[in-house]
Amino acid sequence: MAGKVFFSVSMSLDGFIAPESSEELMKRQWMELQRWVFPLRFFRENLKLGGGGEEGRDNDIVRETFERTGASVMGKRMFDAGEQMWPEEAPFHTPVFVVTHTKRDPWERPGGTAFHFVNDGIESALDQAREAAGDRDVRIAGGGATILEYVNAGLVDEFTIALSPVLFGSGIRLFEGVDAGRVALEQIRAEPTQRVTHLTYAVRER
Ligand SMILES: NC(=O)c1ccc[n+]([C@@H]2O[C@H](COP(=O)([O-])OP(=O)(O)OC[C@H]3O[C@@H](n4cnc5c(N)ncnc54)[C@H](OP(=O)(O)O)[C@@H]3O)[C@@H](O)[C@H]2O)c1
Repeated sequence: MAGKVFFSVSMSLDGFIAPESSEELMKRQWMELQRWVFPLRFFRENLKLGGGGEEGRDNDIVRETFERTGASVMGKRMFDAGEQMWPEEAPFHTPVFVVTHTKRDPWERPGGTAFHFVNDGIESALDQAREAAGDRDVRIAGGGATILEYVNAGLVDEFTIALSPVLFGSGIRLFEGVDAGRVALEQIRAEPTQRVTHLTYAVRER
C-alpha cells in the first residue's frame, strides 16, 4: 500500500518556520526555534554530533518521523542552506528530490542519501519520491514555499507542527498564501512536552 504524504516542521508561536534570510539562519531565532531538537539523542546520532543526548517523547517523535520516511522532497532554498550545514553523511539516508529550476546531476552522499534535482514540477517530484519510498511515507521536508505548493495542490495527507515557545515577528510564514477555501483540517493529536507542543492534523478537501 502506498504511504502518506506529510510534512513536519518547527514553527514559532506567531507562525514562522524560518528567518527571512539564510544568513540569519544560524543566529538567535533559528537556534531558539530548534532548541528542542538539539539535545535529543536521535538528532545527535543522526548528525554525528557525538554520543549521549536526551531520550523521552521528543526524541521518540523525531525518531518515528525519520523511520516513517522513505523519501523526501524539498525546495532549492532549503537544499542550498542544508548543503552548507549538513555533515558529509547527510541526515536523510534515503532519496531526496529537490524541486528546482537548476539542472544538476544527482549528488550521492555516503550513508544512503542521494539528492535528485527535479525540473518538471512538484507532481513529478512527488511521483518519483513515492516510487522511491515504496510502502513508507513521503516527507515534504520544506521549506515554506514548497510545503505551501503541495498543500495548495491538495497533495498533503497530514502534517505535524512542533510549536515552539518563541516569537519571530517576521520571517518565512508557513501558511502565507494558503488556499484557505480549499483546505480543511482535522486535529489528530496534540501532545505537549516540556519544550514544545506537537500538533498533528489531517488535511481534508473542503
Ligand atoms: N522550521 C522548520 O522546521 C523548517 C523545515 C524546513 C525548512 N525550513 C527553512 O525554510 C527555508 C527555505 O524555505 P523557502 O520557503 O525560502 O524555500 P524552499 O521552499 O526551500 O525553496 C523554494 C525554491 O525551490 C524552487 N522551487 C520550488 N517550487 C518549484 C517548482 N514548482 N518548480 C521549480 N522550482 C521550484 C525554487 O528555486 P529555484 O528557482 O532557485 O530552483 C524556489 O525559489 C530555509 O531557511 C529552511 O531552513 C524550516
